[in-house]
Amino acid sequence: MSQPSYTDYKRWSSRLSKPFAYLDLDLLEENMRKIREAGGGKRIRLASKSLRSVPVIRYILDSGDPFRGVMCYAAEEALFLAQRGLDDLLVAYPVWDAGAIRAVAAVVKKGASLTLMVDCPEHVDRIAAVAREEGTVLPVCLDMDLSVSFPGLHFGVHRSPLSSQEDFLRVADHIRQSEHVRLDGVMGYEAQVAGVGDRVPGQPLKNGLVRLLKRHSVRRTARLRKEWVSALRNRGHQLRFINGGGTGSLRETAMEETVTEVTVGSGFYAPLLFDHYRSFRYRPAAGFALAVTRKPKPGLYTCSGGGFVASGAAGPDKLPRPALPEGARLTPLEGAGEVQTPVRWEGSPELELGDPIFFRHAKAGELCEHFRELIVVSGRNVVDRFPTYRGEGRCFL
Ligand SMILES: Cc1ncc(COP(=O)(O)O)c(C=O)c1O
Repeated sequence: MSQPSYTDYKRWSSRLSKPFAYLDLDLLEENMRKIREAGGGKRIRLASKSLRSVPVIRYILDSGDPFRGVMCYAAEEALFLAQRGLDDLLVAYPVWDAGAIRAVAAVVKKGASLTLMVDCPEHVDRIAAVAREEGTVLPVCLDMDLSVSFPGLHFGVHRSPLSSQEDFLRVADHIRQSEHVRLDGVMGYEAQVAGVGDRVPGQPLKNGLVRLLKRHSVRRTARLRKEWVSALRNRGHQLRFINGGGTGSLRETAMEETVTEVTVGSGFYAPLLFDHYRSFRYRPAAGFALAVTRKPKPGLYTCSGGGFVASGAAGPDKLPRPALPEGARLTPLEGAGEVQTPVRWEGSPELELGDPIFFRHAKAGELCEHFRELIVVSGRNVVDRFPTYRGEGRCFL
């Protein structure tokens, strides 16, 4: 498919109030096709944190296999999705709030499939205590730590403390001892493979090192997952799913026999940080448009809004970036401003007041926290408007 052109984007957006966020459905479809293909037939669970819009989640799930189930980022969010009719919900991060666990117990009692994450006996006891009071059994998922530590270098994220098989099995046995929780699945997120670019411009040496470490991690992850899961099975645990990976590791994680499903979120919108991987390239399906409201000097256009900086370790890679017109860029001293963003562009014909500049966000779902809806575009026409979580009055994390 050809690259979207500034002329096309300007044309379909001419009547829209700016700023707005958009979703290019044709590019989303192309990403869905590529993701399907990279998953090699393995089931793909959607990471809602990277989508944050119910109609988008539905759109992808409604396309059918291999897209099934949602990986949620908060209990309240999972409850919201359950209320909206979505099922097979896995909350991927521990929930401590007793009120939230109680609300989860209520929907599970009514038949919803909603699984909570645990990585220590305290998590298990907390969930079991509420489940006991509510007279139910809650399904839980064990989070295994897949990060790698070298002297002076931690490659991966700091999340689960379960970095040895012994500790992992101890928590699994603790789950079995409780009548009010049951082990439903296992999750392991190899963030150092899935979330770290290895073709980042301007750092060839670091890219080389990252690729080396990734190769090592992929092998180690596959071995650990296989060993730990078979140890669980040997102890009589029956598991509904073994979840792994993310957008950046889809192909590798899907090749593991032990894994029953891979999580993908960011690859659907394909934000800036996912441009820098050697093994795939998705299309920039989501972004936002700002209007030029001032022209401080030739070649400089100042837009209203734009300071949508991504989370994570602060750095220029977390800034949004102008995508269209091609060649437009932020100024290093001002970056993306709180209420105004200057953009340098030397092209012609020069932009007029009110003209749009189209940007991409560094991360996927965070874009939706700044806008109430996504303008949905297909075949160079606006075809729909999808509310974001924010547009539905929801703000979870
Ligand atoms: C537990 C877990 N799984 C999977 C992912 C992958 O999400 P994405 O595909 O959006 O990178 C993440 C992202 O942080 C995660 O935390």
